[in-house]
This record gives sequence, structure tokens and C-alpha cells, in this order.
Amino acid sequence: MNVLVTGGAGYVGSVCAQQLLAAGHKVAVIDDLSTGHRQAVPRGAVFVQADLADTRTIGQLVKDTGVAAVMHFAAAALVEKSMTDPRYYFEINVQKALQFLHLLLELEVNDFIFSSTAAVYGEPVSTPITEDHPLRPINAYGESKLMFENILHWYHRAYGLRYVALRYFNAAGADGELGEDHQPETHLIPRLLNAALDQAFEFAIYGDDYPTSDGTCIRDYVHVLDIAEAHVLALNALPVVKGAVYNVGHSEGHSVRKVLDAVAEVTGRHFPVRTAPRRVGDPAVLVASSEKIARELCWHPRHSDLKNIVRSAWAWKQQHASGYGPPAVQ
Ligand SMILES: NC(=O)c1ccc[n+]([C@@H]2O[C@H](COP(=O)([O-])OP(=O)(O)OC[C@H]3O[C@@H](n4cnc5c(N)ncnc54)[C@H](O)[C@@H]3O)[C@@H](O)[C@H]2O)c1
Repeated sequence: MNVLVTGGAGYVGSVCAQQLLAAGHKVAVIDDLSTGHRQAVPRGAVFVQADLADTRTIGQLVKDTGVAAVMHFAAAALVEKSMTDPRYYFEINVQKALQFLHLLLELEVNDFIFSSTAAVYGEPVSTPITEDHPLRPINAYGESKLMFENILHWYHRAYGLRYVALRYFNAAGADGELGEDHQPETHLIPRLLNAALDQAFEFAIYGDDYPTSDGTCIRDYVHVLDIAEAHVLALNALPVVKGAVYNVGHSEGHSVRKVLDAVAEVTGRHFPVRTAPRRVGDPAVLVASSEKIARELCWHPRHSDLKNIVRSAWAWKQQHASGYGPPAVQ
């Protein structure tokens, strides 16, 4: 199948593009490189640098490559920034994404896999979180993703769009040459690895007085390769499931201190750690129930053991101390 991957120069999108190629699909990537890296686009994929709203360029690409399905990763995805600049988040994650979706429907591309997020749930009222947990986002990022999920739901009912929205918890780990390089880096494991590599990166634990066993927040880390596998399974299942939402998590929580210990053990390095006040809107525990995707799509995380995640991310970080670096001169 020919699959269009938006945001395929980003962290999760590049790994998924690679896995699609490995599964025998043809891949075209569009990405504006606002947070992504040209070097991350896997060899074998067609790449076009374009904004999601550039309907002329994307329309031509869809026609030229015979795109039959789309995986939509392109988004603005920084929770804190979404609170100070919500307009940007709604513009990219809703307005431009909707313009893009309309183009696809016009071109009769009806199969769509969407990168959603655990941020659609907001403060958990029960844990592990199942898909029918109340949806009350506490940041504009989560709200923007929920709005787009709702659009997909109604378009499925009205226009026959077939979609799966995958609500990932914390994507982590690396796949060989493909790893995580965000500026700024807000994710725990790469921040810890930066500190392990270079003590100029100061590592802070935000809050050690949560009602958890060691006082630090508990999160669910899922290997990016397992996320990629969920995408491939979802794509194959579209003719049967037609419209569905699934959590993608390891269903096992790790506290910040536990992750810190795993990083110290894997890297063999110790670095200064300071405790800072809690961040606003950080729930104590966020752990997924992934029972639904296991039952319906036979998805089982095979790479998400914490040490395995850290080992793969550390291997990548050692090879890419400054991330992907500047693009190679063509
Ligand atoms: N990383 C996580 O832990 C996580 C968790 C939950 C959900 N998600 C979702 O997964 C997706 C991928 O996340 P990521 O961590 O790989 O982010 P990322 O920033 O690495 O990748 C996003 C990509 O989209 C591109 N992009 C952004 N705006 C665009 C636009 N207007 N037009 C074209 N391209 C554009 C960026 O250049 C980048 O390459 C996002 O939708 C995010 O919301 C990620």
C-alpha cells in the first residue's frame, strides 16, 4: 500500500515510516521540518518539505504516488507551550489538520491513522486509564487533539472515513539510527540521558511529594517501536474496525526516581539531580490500560521493558550527542 506519513521527519513519525517500509509498504513523507529533521526521514521514503495546509503540493504528491492511506503525526506537541500560545496549537492541530483531511476526502483517500495522546484524559479519576475514562483535557494541546478526534468520529459517521486514533502515553526509546531530538527537550528519558552525557544539562525532578511510593510522578513509557507496530496493525485492521480509539501504553508505571536509577545503571554515570517544585497540571500517576488494543488488534508491547527503552535511547544518544545536528549539504 502507498502510505502518506505527515510528520515523518519527527521522532515517532520517522520510526513508523521505517516500520512501514520494512513491512513492504511504499511511503511518502510530508513535513515542514519545524521540529523534525531531514536526516530522520528513512531512506526509501519519498520526502517533500511542505506545510500541512499546502494543499496544492500535498494534492500533487497524493496523486503522483497513489496514496491510499494516511498516518498523521504532524502536530505541535509541547504541553507547556500550548498553555501560553494555544492559538498556535489549535491552528496546527485542528485548523490545518482539518484542511488536510478535507483534501484527502476530496481525493477519496479515506483511511486515516491519527496520533492522539493520553493528554485527552486530563486529571485521571481512575487508573489504569481505559478508553471510556472521562475526557477532560487540562491543557490546550490535549484539547486540540480531542477536538480532532471528535472531527474524525463525525466524519466517519457522515462520510465513510475509516480511522483509528491511537492515544499514546509516553513514547520513548530509539530504533537504531532513529531517535528522539526535540528542541527544547521536555521528555524525561532524553533529558536524563543529556545529563548523563554532559553535566552542563541540569536535571531537575519536578516534585517529590506526590502520593506515590517514592514521592515522584509515575508515568507509562512505551517503546517507539511498539507504537510503530500499533500503527501497522491499525492500518491493517481499518477494513474491520472502521472507526476506533485505542490507548497505546505499556500498562506499567515507573516513577521518575525509578527511571533515574535505570538511566544510572545503563549508562554507568552519575550526575547532579536537584528537586524543584511540582509543575502545574502534572498528575501523580498516568498509566494506560491497553487491554482494548490487545484484545482487538492483538497488540502486545514487545520492546517496552524500561531497561530496554533506556538502552536503545542511550545507544542512540551516544552516537548523536548533539541530536541529528545540522542537515547534510545536498
Ligand atoms: N512523543 C510522545 O511521547 C507523544 C505522546 C503522545 C502523542 N504524541 C503525538 O505523536 C505525534 C508525533 O510526536 P513526536 O514526538 O514525534 O513529535 P515531533 O515534533 O518529533 O514530530 C512532529 C513532526 O511534525 C512536523 N510538523 C509540525 N507541524 C507541521 C506542519 N504544520 N506541517 C508539516 N509538518 C509539521 C514537525 O516538523 C515534526 O517533524 C504528534 O502528533 C504528537 O502529538 C507524541
